[in-house]
Amino acid sequence: MISMDESPLPNIIGFLALASYIATLIPTILRIVFPQTKETGIPQWLLKRRRVIGVMAFFLALGHGFLMVQKRNFDFFDIKTFWIYIQGVSTFIIFTLLSITSNNWSVKKLKKNWKQLHKLTYVAMVVLIWHIWDKMSGHWTYLTPISLAAITIITVLFVIRLWIEYQSKQQKNAAKVAKPDLVGKGIR
Ligand code: HEM
Repeated sequence: MISMDESPLPNIIGFLALASYIATLIPTILRIVFPQTKETGIPQWLLKRRRVIGVMAFFLALGHGFLMVQKRNFDFFDIKTFWIYIQGVSTFIIFTLLSITSNNWSVKKLKKNWKQLHKLTYVAMVVLIWHIWDKMSGHWTYLTPISLAAITIITVLFVIRLWIEYQSKQQKNAAKVAKPDLVGKGIR
């Protein structure tokens, strides 16, 4: 029989960080994959609060990382430590970059680079699956299956979103090519 551990506080905080992070990804995914959800008002509600939810995810991740560091007696002078916790640490670095640039000043200053930088959120998405799978392997808590299911579902929906965007770009390009043809044949 499968047995699962109770969730200690550092894990609960990690779970809440994950939930807040996923909430930042939901509005764009809903808009493209399930456009009919616009009528519910949920995507707009989340979009309005996306920045504050993202910063919340950062602080929760900070709390989670801090408690894990204490719990596991990290040796910061040993490079192996960073290798063992590479997924958590790299996700945390991404969250830090995104949080400090989540303001109008950074959007203005970084211009096109701001969008490129914020695409790192999708790197965090994939790394987090690895983080939870690797770190919880062999001692799942009640939160582990929920976390894994949530982050996997959002990743699959993200791939579907990319596919839809690719398709509509192809259709637009095809329409652009077809238009001059019609003009050339005297059809306007
Ligand atoms: C400094 C960075 C991080 C470190 C050192 C770290 C460390 C850990 C460790 C050691 C575990 C396993 C806990 C256990 O054995 O019970 C864990 C689990 C977990 N971490 Fe992290 N982590 C970091 C960043 C993050 C971030 C950024 C998130 C989410 C956005 C996150 C979400 C989770 C979740 C959801 C679990 C599984 C909890 C469960 O299933 O009970 N972690 N982390």
